[in-house]
Amino acid sequence: MNTTILVTGGTGTIGRRTVPLLHAAGRPVRILTRHPKTSEPGIEHVAGDTVRDRGLDEALDGVGTVLHLAGGAKGDDVAARNLVAAAQRAGVGHLVLISVIGADRMPIGYFRMKAAAEQAFETSGIPFTILRVAQLHEFAVPIVKSLSGMRIAPRGLRFESVGVDDVAARLAELTLGEPAGRVADLAGPEVRDIADMVRSFDAARGTTRRSLGIRIPGAVGRAYRAGDNLAADAATRGTVTWEDFLAA
Ligand SMILES: NC(=O)c1ccc[n+]([C@@H]2O[C@H](COP(=O)([O-])OP(=O)(O)OC[C@H]3O[C@@H](n4cnc5c(N)ncnc54)[C@H](OP(=O)(O)O)[C@@H]3O)[C@@H](O)[C@H]2O)c1
Repeated sequence: MNTTILVTGGTGTIGRRTVPLLHAAGRPVRILTRHPKTSEPGIEHVAGDTVRDRGLDEALDGVGTVLHLAGGAKGDDVAARNLVAAAQRAGVGHLVLISVIGADRMPIGYFRMKAAAEQAFETSGIPFTILRVAQLHEFAVPIVKSLSGMRIAPRGLRFESVGVDDVAARLAELTLGEPAGRVADLAGPEVRDIADMVRSFDAARGTTRRSLGIRIPGAVGRAYRAGDNLAADAATRGTVTWEDFLAA
């Protein structure tokens, strides 16, 4: 099968690493973006907006598989429902979604929005694959940097951040494969205490600082301390550690 793959979010941090892998596998790729650039052979850019429901029917014309990576601080649930409705009209054969580990457990709006997006895919009637992923190392940087600056470290907060190339490789594999439903979560190679991540971050910049332990209040604090943001034991683990990432 050599049908076109539509990648929403193909211009983003993860999408930019995933699109070349799909292209290298010999599949025509179409990127849906709000700011289309010039297309190149085998990689077409089309204008569309998943939240505002614009350009989706045109973008899905002739598409067999959709890799849905587009996301933002708000509207990912609406975007998923819009995309599913358009995919149903277009007769798409495989929907692939990136989600976040803890989508169904963390009491935070972003996670609830991701759980609603998952539900839209699961109830679409279209064969689907959903991969929950941990935070990228890149995403952990601003958090660690600001904690370092404030010299505080929330007690019990742990991350298992993952390298973007590990994520891109797994997404490409799933997108090129058969629909697989909810697959094992993908996390980084290590579960790390935030204070420890801050120490490594400071060391990579040639500094040493002492952090004051603080307590995250309420349900969110309880969820983080319980590890509800972390993958189960059965998770797939990437290869790039926090220190590898900092060194690079
Ligand atoms: N980064 C992480 O740590 C992480 C972890 C787990 C899951 N995720 C999820 O993985 C996905 C990709 O993350 P990322 O870090 O690569 O994101 P990113 O770098 O912030 O890029 C966001 C992408 O979404 C597209 N987009 C946003 N709103 C859109 C809209 N209304 N219509 C069409 N396209 C829209 C943007 O395209 P244009 O600006 O070109 O329109 C861009 O390509 C997101 O859904 C995110 O929630 C991320």
